[in-house]
Amino acid sequence: MPGEIAIGIHDLSIASTEYVLTHATLAAQNGAPVGKYERGIGQLSMSVPALDEDIVTMAATAAAPIVERHGADRIRTVVFATETAVDQAKAAGIHVHSLLGLPSATRVVELKQACYGGAAGLQFAISLVHRDPAEQVLVIASDVSRYDLGSAGEATQGAAAVAMLVSAAPAVLRVEDPSGLFTADVMDFWRPNYRTTALVDGRESISAYLQAVEGTWKDYTERGGHPLGAFRAFCYHQPFTRMAHKAHHHLLNCCGREVDDAAVAHAVGHTTAYNAVIGNSYTASLFLALAALLDNADDLSEQAIGFLSYGSGAVAEFFAGRVVPGYRAHLRSAAHRAVVSRRHDIDYARYREIHEHAFPADGGHHPVPHETTGPFRLAGLSGHKRIYEPR
Ligand code: CAA
Repeated sequence: MPGEIAIGIHDLSIASTEYVLTHATLAAQNGAPVGKYERGIGQLSMSVPALDEDIVTMAATAAAPIVERHGADRIRTVVFATETAVDQAKAAGIHVHSLLGLPSATRVVELKQACYGGAAGLQFAISLVHRDPAEQVLVIASDVSRYDLGSAGEATQGAAAVAMLVSAAPAVLRVEDPSGLFTADVMDFWRPNYRTTALVDGRESISAYLQAVEGTWKDYTERGGHPLGAFRAFCYHQPFTRMAHKAHHHLLNCCGREVDDAAVAHAVGHTTAYNAVIGNSYTASLFLALAALLDNADDLSEQAIGFLSYGSGAVAEFFAGRVVPGYRAHLRSAAHRAVVSRRHDIDYARYREIHEHAFPADGGHHPVPHETTGPFRLAGLSGHKRIYEPR
């Protein structure tokens, strides 16, 4: 709209873990055909955090290059979205604030609504920047997806963080109005406070996701959003990458369009590159899809991108973003590819050991062995406090 200030993503940076487990390794252990994982759900491997990595170390690793490039003078808010919080009271973002040496005149808060939290953080950040366009907001989405060993969900684990600097006159993506919203009370995926692994009704979760696609799109179009044909590509939340194909297929159906696999692949193809090898990163997954699209597609300047965030439980939002001309000069494509390629393969036994690791809850001093080669590490737990340090 003329006169309206453009607000959106000024910079975006991703991080993941030290280790990776291939689905070929998991399939060999589970006796599942590897094609079920690689083609059926579209997953080739999953990131696995070392014992001295977690949502905080990934978040700080993702955010550090942004602070290095832009400074922290204009950042007055840090929004940390996660559904795998490390504390029930303290915001994980305060550890990141400390590791990155951000100014004390900052508000830091944690947001939760399953995988939707990252998109909520982005929208709230946009509102804050509207209030004062001189301010910037650091939005971080960071999660470790964990299901029980041997469960159907095990193949859809993963871990990653995405940090985004939200500002006026963004260099990468302008986020547009309106948004299409949808909430329904469903128990498709949840994690009670006493559990470290998620519970899920797999089939129910897929159908709840598809209903949310329909619901958000209906609200989006009723509020005057773009027609389907206006979008060059669609970034979907990707619990597994085939879900993006299923979602887009469903959207085309809902719009009465002929569905052909080539049209679906054209719309979501580039967006799956990182999620296919990183796995489900819950709140971060939608923005890994954006990073993959920007890093891999031909010039997208002035193209409209559709975003569908889905958080089980369930809340969803559909919104549009327009790619800013000249965005390619601001991407971190080589660093993002290195996030994927720097990980070390682990075998099933090591993966299992990490999966089963739990800190004693006795308040004692429990140092963690040095494993990560990333810039930040969880040094241990002492007196019930998590201790983080630069490596
Ligand atoms: N070669 C190729 N494809 C094969 C195959 C083979 N040998 N064997 C099976 N397949 C296909 C199946 O046909 C199926 O495809 P369709 O869905 O297109 O029919 C696919 O592989 C998966 O097979 P199954 O349905 O039999 O797999 P499953 O029952 O073991 O579980 C799952 C799949 C439900 C996704 C399970 O991994 C799960 O519960 N994951 C966690 C929940 C989840 O990710 N839900 C997504 C929506 S919820 C959400 O988005 C929020 C979130 O982040 C959790």
